[in-house]
Amino acid sequence: MTSDHAPPSAPGGQESHFPAPTGPESGFPALPDHGTGEPLIRVRDLQRIYRRPRATLFGPRPEVHALRGVSFDIAAGQRFGIVGESGSGKSTLIRLLAGLDSPTAGTITLGGRDVGGQPERRLRFLREQLQVVFQDPMGSLDPRMRVRDIVAEPLAGATGVDVPARVRELLDAVGLPPDAAGRYPHQFSGGQRQRISIARALSPRPSVLVADEPVSALDVSVRAQILNLLADLVDAYSLTLVFVSHDLAVVRHVCDTVAVMHDGEIVELGDAARIADAPEHPYTRRLVAAVPTIRGALAGRTAADLARGHLEVEKS
Ligand SMILES: Nc1ncnc2c1ncn2[C@@H]1O[C@H](COP(=O)(O)OP(=O)(O)O)[C@@H](O)[C@H]1O
Ligand SMILES: [Mg+2]
Repeated sequence: MTSDHAPPSAPGGQESHFPAPTGPESGFPALPDHGTGEPLIRVRDLQRIYRRPRATLFGPRPEVHALRGVSFDIAAGQRFGIVGESGSGKSTLIRLLAGLDSPTAGTITLGGRDVGGQPERRLRFLREQLQVVFQDPMGSLDPRMRVRDIVAEPLAGATGVDVPARVRELLDAVGLPPDAAGRYPHQFSGGQRQRISIARALSPRPSVLVADEPVSALDVSVRAQILNLLADLVDAYSLTLVFVSHDLAVVRHVCDTVAVMHDGEIVELGDAARIADAPEHPYTRRLVAAVPTIRGALAGRTAADLARGHLEVEKS
């Protein structure tokens, strides 16, 4: 493996340098506490139909039913996993949650406020409360921007923020050296670029972190490090996590709850360990049976290794 190891004080190491931010001093926006057990995220009967271009001049426009009526709740502090094969609708669901696309039908609320179908400019509250880490850090980082500007970008228009101090804090939190701030994305390895993406996602101090296959594009040797970093940051900043993967073994390790998606529907939803150990739906059983082949995604770690606890970080 290459130069992708974190400094000793970084999350994932023995000493956590986090001030354990909780309560009003944490600087995190307080979400409305309805006191009614209202979930933080509430999704009801969500549908998304894509219309493809006509194949022939007067032919019908083929429809893709990417989401066929998806409903679930996510409580504050939950680690909610979404697992399913490629094409099952996971990224479509994430784009809708993040307000990057509008549903064909159905509703999404975050902290009691409507997310679905609003123009992006009215979704500032959403950007401040929910941030996404995408699969491909190269594709999601502007190559012409320095790291300090990338990390500060979600803070544009925010008042009363000491931006240089925030950038320093975040680079430290994701295990990058302070001088990373002046460099460009191409000067980093894939794993380091994903650390930059994570720092950017955390800069507006969101309460919800969404990660769409965050390690799938990375070298196997750094996947466990990035997963451990995410898990540590979710703890340290008391985040609610929505984590998408095609790999149930990874989701089980990172999440407490799993929704299994198949062909635009949730076919099974519940406790992550229960679903991994005793799947009820035939599709989930097939996914579980496939684990010995897809666990190669974690460089030969067995499901038992994963279940034992923290992933071992490879030493270079
Ligand atoms: N912009 C789009 N236009 C047309 N079809 C799309 C578009 N995005 C996704 N799809 C289709 O919707 C389905 C679900 O895709 P996606 O949400 O990306 O699944 P996943 O993330 O689980 O791989 C797939 O059949 C995909 O081809
Ligand atoms: Mg996807």
